[in-house]
Amino acid sequence: MLSEKMADALNGQVNKEMYSAYLYMSMSAYSTYTGLKGFANWFMVQYQEEMTHTMKIYDYLNAQGAQVKLAAIAQPPTEFVSPLDMFEKTLEHEKFVTKSINELVDLAIQENDHATNIFLQWFVTEQIEEEGNDTEIISELKLIGEDGRGLLMLDRELAQRVFVPPAASSE
Ligand code: FEO
Repeated sequence: MLSEKMADALNGQVNKEMYSAYLYMSMSAYSTYTGLKGFANWFMVQYQEEMTHTMKIYDYLNAQGAQVKLAAIAQPPTEFVSPLDMFEKTLEHEKFVTKSINELVDLAIQENDHATNIFLQWFVTEQIEEEGNDTEIISELKLIGEDGRGLLMLDRELAQRVFVPPAASSE
């Protein structure tokens, strides 16, 4: 049984995860438009991951007998300066999501809500991986600078990313 405050906060996180999906879908579309198919693939896989994050919380609310309440999703940016700009915005957004997850854990601890605290640990770990991936790609993009060949090589590497559905992953 969740408190109303906890259920509201988790519903807020559903919205943030949906926005994350929407943001990366927008970055995927922009990448396709600018001819970077590998970047487009990477962001589309990220979009799929965000949808699984959304559904994890959705299913948890349902399993706890709380009401899922969907809210409007904000419009994501549609124009980006460069691939580096997209990844810097991605990292900035993920730091915001990490902060939000940490606040949810704080609330669960305050309320002695052990079930929600345990549920949220998966997200705590996931955020380490997400920020790490973004930081790595930002470093590569900074090394590449204005080198078109380097950018194409990274584009080919990002084209290899494959979405692994949660049931088949090690969660
Ligand atoms: Fe759902 Fe990118 O964290």
